[in-house]
Amino acid sequence: ELKIDATKSLAKIQPTMYGIFFEDINFAADGGLYAEKVKNRSFEFELPKMGWIEPDSDRHSFNKNSGIAKIVRYQDESGNHNFARITINDASGYKLINEGYRGMGIKENAEYRISIQAAQPKGIEKINFKLIDESGNVIGKTSISVDSDSWKTYESVFTATKTLEKARLEVTFEGNGAIDLDMISLFPVDTWKGRKNGLRKDLVQLLDDMDPGFLRFPGGCIVEGRTLEKRYQWKKTVGPAEDREILVNRWNTEFSHRLTPDYYQSFGLGYFEYFQLAEDMGAEALPILGVGIACQFNTGELVPMEDLDPYVEDAIDLIQFANGSVDSEWGKIRAEMGHPEPFNLKYIGIGNEQWGPEYIERYKVFQTAIQEKYPEITIVSGSGPFPEGDYFEYGWEQLKKLDAAIIDEHYYKPPKWFRENATRYDDYDRNGPKVFAGEYAAQSVAIASPDNKNNWETAMSEAAFMTGLERNADVVHLTSYAPLMAHKEGWQWTPDLIWFDNLSSYGTPNYYVQKLFANNSGTDLLKITENKKALTGQKELYASAVRDTDKNEIIIKLVNTSSSEKEIEMDIKGVRLNESGEMLTLQTSDLSAENSFEKPKNISPQTQNVKLKGRELEVDLKPYSVNIIKFKIN
Ligand code: AHR
Repeated sequence: ELKIDATKSLAKIQPTMYGIFFEDINFAADGGLYAEKVKNRSFEFELPKMGWIEPDSDRHSFNKNSGIAKIVRYQDESGNHNFARITINDASGYKLINEGYRGMGIKENAEYRISIQAAQPKGIEKINFKLIDESGNVIGKTSISVDSDSWKTYESVFTATKTLEKARLEVTFEGNGAIDLDMISLFPVDTWKGRKNGLRKDLVQLLDDMDPGFLRFPGGCIVEGRTLEKRYQWKKTVGPAEDREILVNRWNTEFSHRLTPDYYQSFGLGYFEYFQLAEDMGAEALPILGVGIACQFNTGELVPMEDLDPYVEDAIDLIQFANGSVDSEWGKIRAEMGHPEPFNLKYIGIGNEQWGPEYIERYKVFQTAIQEKYPEITIVSGSGPFPEGDYFEYGWEQLKKLDAAIIDEHYYKPPKWFRENATRYDDYDRNGPKVFAGEYAAQSVAIASPDNKNNWETAMSEAAFMTGLERNADVVHLTSYAPLMAHKEGWQWTPDLIWFDNLSSYGTPNYYVQKLFANNSGTDLLKITENKKALTGQKELYASAVRDTDKNEIIIKLVNTSSSEKEIEMDIKGVRLNESGEMLTLQTSDLSAENSFEKPKNISPQTQNVKLKGRELEVDLKPYSVNIIKFKIN
């Protein structure tokens, strides 16, 4: 018999207990959450015409065909260096086609907004835009008349006539001559919260449904960059979208598990948009900044200590951008972007997966500077990518000496490891730093193997482990699965929590585990034992129990990782409960089962009623099941 003691709270469950880790990996931002359909809209990729096709243009024929786009590059400091100068010899023959991010997802009857910047039209008065299928059939079209010599933005909204996963955008011209074009952009009008040129609604909805306690951004390895020069710099991601300087994505080609040479960061989803997204979801924003070390799996390039200042300034200025008054330098920019109220930032992370004395030495400088200027901000520090070994111990010891508040631990391990490590935090020092389990996911084959699956064994094993995170809520304050999202044709890493194509998306079984835990996190930890012992996998049973003082509920999480059904008796003491409650179950007897585009809810929560007899509850736990039992308190 399991005993649940509701007479006292063992610890507060932090509102940040279950959150989201967002990184622009697997086309999660460009090609994913950021709803832009045009790839390389401002001709800034290293090969500036990547993504663009000119079927009747031939560079080698000295421009004798119908026309050609040439790239003009400003040599100044601006973020947007390039534009396309289009010369038309025969308007009836020239086309410029954008292929989108593995095509463009277009929906019948939905509205789309095309926008362009144009200058110096000579002999060209009108530009035509068509959405076409593979055979060139038109599924939506509009035209824009151009009239200004200096740069001007034009836009037009039109309705698509057909649903297509892989449409392309065709641009044609009326009249022979020339014109300069930049920022050729296409967005659905219907975005998350209807924001102009905003985020893809179905994807944000999946995130919002998790009711996340925090949003960590922008990564991951992309924070550090493969070299210091190519690190993520938040200041380049705010202000007008057209001025944000693009960057080759860290997950483009080398050091990546799958090649995607067309992977760049447009930063249309930049720091302002991340803060706004966190606010929309009622989640704490948790930005992670580089510490002056490039990704240690790549070059590990170090900034000399005497040159660290600009990196530290970035952190200090970021706090001002989020929280400063509208009169401050960076608060003013936030206000100009439409958010005069502060974002109320409480956390900042310094360094992702960095280790050794070089990390500690640099981290110290950040810690001192931030604590001096913004003592109210909680700093999250890192402990490296593997949760054991010399440098891991070294990191913890050093950070403890520095009175670090929260340390970020990552683990990408086999499912069995998760089942065997539900006690991981039982013996952690209660007087030391708190834990941010910032990246974890069970790997069905091997870390980041392209053959990994988001199958039921991985999800169930993570759930078993998560009961251990929750039982240790006094020391574990934040947790998040990683990576979060993947485009079915644009990914570099598996497994991932959410999969999408250009039209649709689905949550994996791992997503439903995260969602169930996050939606039922509770506010106070309760003791749940069998023969006075915590349930950490003995007889393949894992458990944790909480009370939710806001929803007035007792919530019990039980994970049965065995192949047979278990009859469980529970005695709940210390509260008067409604006789009838509900049990949400995720289950399948097939450990290799997955969700898919065809069967997105193959494994998703099923609900049944359960009844108390006095203080006693009897339930049958199906084989390989994750169960959440909830009773209202009278
Ligand atoms: O989640 C994928 C990668 O795994 C992250 O970018 C990095 O922090 C970790 O190595």
